[in-house]
Amino acid sequence: MDSFIVTIDGPAGSGKSTIAKMIAKKYNFTYLDTGAMYRMIALYVIRHNIDLENKKEIEEMLKNVKLDIQGNTFYLNGEDVSEAIRTPEVSKIVSPVAAIKEVRVKLVDMQREISFGKRIILDGRDMGTTVFPKADVKIFLIASPEIRAKRRLKEYDEKGIAATYEEVLESIKERDYIDSTRKESPLVKAQDAHEIDSSKLNIDDVLKEISAYIDKKIGE
Ligand code: CDP
Ligand code: CDP
Repeated sequence: MDSFIVTIDGPAGSGKSTIAKMIAKKYNFTYLDTGAMYRMIALYVIRHNIDLENKKEIEEMLKNVKLDIQGNTFYLNGEDVSEAIRTPEVSKIVSPVAAIKEVRVKLVDMQREISFGKRIILDGRDMGTTVFPKADVKIFLIASPEIRAKRRLKEYDEKGIAATYEEVLESIKERDYIDSTRKESPLVKAQDAHEIDSSKLNIDDVLKEISAYIDKKIGE
C-alpha cells in the first residue's frame, strides 16, 4: 500500500492526540505522538540536570539518549516513561528544550525515518510545515487557551496530579508563546492546512470533520 501522511499541528490541549488516535484506528494508520519525543528529552534534561545553554552538554546528551516508541509506550534508554513524561514539571521545561536546534534535528530525522513508506498520522507543532511539507492531509487544530486549560486540568484531576486552573492556564500560555515565537520551526499554520477550532466542538464533531476532509483527499 502507498504511503499516506496526515499531519495535525496546533497548540497544547487543542485535542490533537485524542483525535489522531481515533483517526489512526478508523483508517488503520500508524500514529506517532511527536510531542512525547520532545517530552522524553525534557525528562532526561530534568533528571541529569542538563544546562540548556551549554552546547557541549546538549550534544553529549543527544549521543546518550535512546528513544524507543512502541505504539503508545515510550522508552527512554530502556525505561518505560509513558507516565513520567506527562507531569506538569515536564510540561514546564519541554518548550525551551524543543526550541534547541540540535534537539529538533535529531527528532525530525527520527520522525521522517519512522514514517518512511507508511500510512501514518503524526501530531505536533511543525509536522505540516517543516517535517512533512508535502503531507497528503494537513490539519491545524486550535481552541481558546481557557478551554484548553480546563481540558488539561480535568486530565490532571483524573490522574490525581495537583494543579490549579490558574497554573495550568499560565503554563499553556507560556508554552504557546515559546512554541510560536521560537526561531526553529515555530508553531504556525501551514498555508495549505485545514483549520478547525475545537473550542465549541466535541470530539465526535471534530472526528467527523477531519474524516470528511481525509475522505475527500483520498478521493482526489
Ligand atoms: O500534549 P501537549 O499539546 O501538551 O504537548 P505535546 O504535544 O506533548 O508537546 C510538548 C511540547 O513539545 C510542545 O509544547 C512543544 O514545545 C514541543 N513540540 C515541538 O516543538 N514540536 C513538535 N512536533 C511536537 C512538540
Ligand atoms: O494532544 P493535545 O495536547 O492537542 O490535546 P489532547 O491531549 O488530545 O486533548 C486534551 C483534552 O481535551 C483531552 O482530555 C480530550 O479528551 C479533551 N478534548 C475535548 O474535551 N474536546 C475536544 N474537542 C478535544 C479534546
